[in-house]
Amino acid sequence: GLITIGLVFLAYLWGSIPTAVLVCHALNIPDPRKKGSGNPGTTNVLRIGSRKGALFTLVGDAGKGILALLPCSLLQLSSTEQSFCALAAIIGHLFPLFSSFRGGKGIATTFGVCVSLFWPITVLQSCIWCLVFAVSRTASLASIATVLITPIIVGLTEPTYLPAILIISALLLLSHRVNISNLLQGKEPRF
Ligand code: G3P
Repeated sequence: GLITIGLVFLAYLWGSIPTAVLVCHALNIPDPRKKGSGNPGTTNVLRIGSRKGALFTLVGDAGKGILALLPCSLLQLSSTEQSFCALAAIIGHLFPLFSSFRGGKGIATTFGVCVSLFWPITVLQSCIWCLVFAVSRTASLASIATVLITPIIVGLTEPTYLPAILIISALLLLSHRVNISNLLQGKEPRF
């Protein structure tokens, strides 16, 4: 009903908050959209040189994903309604209303959304991300591996969220298209 539509729109607004841009502005760090990979996200803030900024960005981007779904759990909405809110939060992050529709790549916000849907998903995602990063020292490869494995995790744990997660995964692969092409050409930067 109307409440669901309102919550979906609210989730989109939450997702639209450009955490990395706000954090860098507050900490007097260069705008992440103009440095490094140009991506307003945790990885690029770290690349620009601020561990503190990267941590705040990670917490903020994941936090807005958690908060976007909080009303759904409080109001005990159905898994379909939660799925729409989850999707809206990710779309907000990728295409933010408050940042001329040019957002980030959606990994941290997806982690946050998954905390709200079923938190063990995020525990597994974080393990995969850290493992692939530890081996490859390449953030985007860790993200892409996580994106590819997440539907399997969700399919085995909370399959009602699988349709939303498949759409989110497809969107996240698209948001990483430049990284994918760099990886294939062997020119993706490592840490
Ligand atoms: O989560 C973002 C990461 O996957 C890639 O970021 O800045 O290396 O393109 P970046």
